[in-house]
Amino acid sequence: MSLTPTKADRFSFGLWTIGYNGTDPFGGPTRPDLDVVEAVTRLNDLGAYGLTFHDDDLFAFGSTDAERQKQIDRLKQALADTGVIVPMVTTNLFSAPVFKDGGFTSNDRAVRRFALRKVLRNLDLAAELGAKTFVMWGGREGAEYDSAKDVQAALERYREAVNFLGDYVTDKGYDIRFAIEPKPNEPRGDILLPTLGHAMAFIETLERPELVGINPEVGHEQMAGLNFTAGIAQALYQGKLYHIDLNGQRGIKYDQDLVFGHGDLQNAFSLVDLLEHGGVNGGPAYDGPRHFDYKPSRTEDIMGVWDSAAANMRMYLLLKERAEAFRADPEVQEALAAARVPELREPTLNPGETVEQLLADRSSYEDFDADAYFGGKGFGFVRLQQLAVDHLMGAR
Ligand code: GCO
Ligand code: MN
Ligand code: MN
Repeated sequence: MSLTPTKADRFSFGLWTIGYNGTDPFGGPTRPDLDVVEAVTRLNDLGAYGLTFHDDDLFAFGSTDAERQKQIDRLKQALADTGVIVPMVTTNLFSAPVFKDGGFTSNDRAVRRFALRKVLRNLDLAAELGAKTFVMWGGREGAEYDSAKDVQAALERYREAVNFLGDYVTDKGYDIRFAIEPKPNEPRGDILLPTLGHAMAFIETLERPELVGINPEVGHEQMAGLNFTAGIAQALYQGKLYHIDLNGQRGIKYDQDLVFGHGDLQNAFSLVDLLEHGGVNGGPAYDGPRHFDYKPSRTEDIMGVWDSAAANMRMYLLLKERAEAFRADPEVQEALAAARVPELREPTLNPGETVEQLLADRSSYEDFDADAYFGGKGFGFVRLQQLAVDHLMGAR
């Protein structure tokens, strides 16, 4: 397997990721701004297939129509010159001061109407560029104080907005689906729809749930102490993994946005294994873009930016290679069987089995000796996990 990324790997990057200039709450920029044409050119050289962006990444908030169009034209030319595509577009409803209490769920109605207009305009651009996914990250949709936000009303306004946008893409005939990106906190003290579970439950309340899925980010679930791979498994199970943000996070703290795999490496391994081999027939479980939403650390210069972009793709390909070796190892197959992992796919009841039939099966209860059942025998999960780590470390 090649560790050189190609467009067939479907790696994409946000313009705001490689374009991050190092500004954090404690200090200003450590790098100059990155031009979009250079971004597309360098990503293409590195083997990425896609660039994604927020409206405000491409043309500054408050740009005139002419300034906006000039940047769109420059992007289009760079795409035409390289064959890079725009698989996803998203709207910035969090940086401008007007969004200080959110966009779709600001307490202020005029701000909510402005937010909808900003998104409608950006949806037209997304359709024009052929993007298939429109991400909604509601970083400012939240509160610091329980008394300041009527959460039920906020959910109602969120619903109103997403229903309205769903009608818009349907009426326009756009081939675009929405993906809600959950995050527990930062920048707000508490963000609405904090985890992928909250988001998936919310989506079921919408008028067009089939148009809306999720865009989970590794670090965001891990900031909440959750197992990202397990969450992705549920998202896939419910048919809701419309997009994914790959990066690295080390534990419950601020959003680190490290390179993919530079956080919880074992979880990154199981994630790639799931995305690549988690389908019912052992095929890929996810065939969308492998999108990196990371921040090149502010200690790095522009060389470091491109090194870190390459590192994301290399980590993914290394983990894919390791996962393939893991799956192909006969000892792993045997350990999986011994741990009874495949048995969980067997239905608990016989086909068509009734309550009466289960009650009549004495072996399931009356004659079932729960105390002696395992006879002291274990499942062997630890041995299986060590085989996984052996593969991860290249020791097998
Ligand atoms: C963050 C988020 C953002 C979103 C992006 C897309 O925590 O900063 O991950 O990077 O992914 O705004 O809408
Ligand atoms: Mn993040
Ligand atoms: Mn993200």
